Amino acid sequence: MRRAVCPGSFDPIHNGHLEVIARAASLFDEVIVAVSTNYAKKYRFTLEERIGMARETLASLRGIVVEPVGEGLLAEYCRRRGASAIVKGLRSSSDFDYELPMATMNRQLTGVETVFLPAEGHYLHLSSTLIKEVHTLGGDVSEFVPKSVLRRLGSGGAV
Ligand code: PNS
Repeated sequence: MRRAVCPGSFDPIHNGHLEVIARAASLFDEVIVAVSTNYAKKYRFTLEERIGMARETLASLRGIVVEPVGEGLLAEYCRRRGASAIVKGLRSSSDFDYELPMATMNRQLTGVETVFLPAEGHYLHLSSTLIKEVHTLGGDVSEFVPKSVLRRLGSGGAV
């Protein structure tokens, strides 16, 4: 059983995430979408909401589970869960610069590898932060997020 972890805040999950998760699922027997909480970050959605949106969206796909990461190191979480790889999507060279030290550190900590997947061209501009800002200012984000997220984002206005 080859298991991979797709970690992130998923605040909220968007179509760029989904595309990377689906491709990870084609490479591994099981993919754990691991929803993290960083106490230094201010989230738009609670952990339960972020998990709920991801579960609703991914329910029809086989071999994907969604769960919270909990506290502590991601590398240790991967070891506990028997995952040999972390999968991350890369949108740009700045994503790579940010991710490379973490990938190396995670491998040194527990031996977990990181697999980078180049993001699909039409999702290169997507981030949860930008989607929330556009929605808050009245823009249409229906093209960028799944229905379960659109429903929870509501009708917009200041967050
Ligand atoms: O979606 P995000 O907020 O960019 O996700 C970041 C995440 C969860 C992947 C990153 O913060 C992380 O790996 N956190 C776990 C804590 C940890 O292991 N830190 C050391 C990294 S080498």
